[in-house]
Amino acid sequence: MREISLHILDIMQNSTAAQARVIKVVITVESGKSMLRIVIEDDGCGMDSKVLAKVTDPFTTGRTTRRVGLGIPLFKASAEQSGGDFAISSQKDVGTVVRARYEINSIDRPPIGDLPGVIADMAAGYPTVEIHLQLENGDRQFVFNSREVKQVLGDVPLSEFEVIVWLREYISEGLKEIFGGVLSEINS
Ligand SMILES: Nc1ncnc2c1ncn2[C@@H]1O[C@H](COP(=O)(O)OP(=O)(O)OP(=O)(O)O)[C@@H](O)[C@H]1O
Ligand SMILES: [Mg+2]
Repeated sequence: MREISLHILDIMQNSTAAQARVIKVVITVESGKSMLRIVIEDDGCGMDSKVLAKVTDPFTTGRTTRRVGLGIPLFKASAEQSGGDFAISSQKDVGTVVRARYEINSIDRPPIGDLPGVIADMAAGYPTVEIHLQLENGDRQFVFNSREVKQVLGDVPLSEFEVIVWLREYISEGLKEIFGGVLSEINS
């Protein structure tokens, strides 16, 4: 089973390929605490309805000269296998929103995985992109924003080794604080 953070990485890489300047990842424990919702939103180039229809279901599109990828279909399958659901919406020249929901206690839900590593590496690797991570569970909330961190750092680049180590640790603490006790793989 693939970790959820790797699906998030795939989707964020689609966003950077689409020239996004802002990528917002919001992960929420829904009220009732049975579902985990993941929303990844970007302001990249977007897709027209024809392309959008293909990416959601690449195997039923018939002949095409264009290579159709697997990042989106794999994320969709993963969420649906756990009893969740998946949706993607997009508008040309505006941006794209990917939404996945996992049933938290399903044995088919993959662990969240190394989300701190994924977010820290994206922030370090794409310093001109604003990477926003928001974790929510009831009235508990954690926010990481790479643009704000960059402002505080001044001349020190986000790709500096010590900065990446700190970022990972900071996000890891946030994960524990917000999802500890709800996601069984996180020890609070
Ligand atoms: N956020 C996005 N903005 C604009 N276009 C997108 C976005 N996400 C996906 N697409 C389009 O949908 C296609 C399919 O995405 P998907 O992630 O499934 O596969 P891929 O990125 O082409 O390949 P893979 O992820 O397997 O390396 C992309 O090639 C791109 O054309
Ligand atoms: Mg992709």
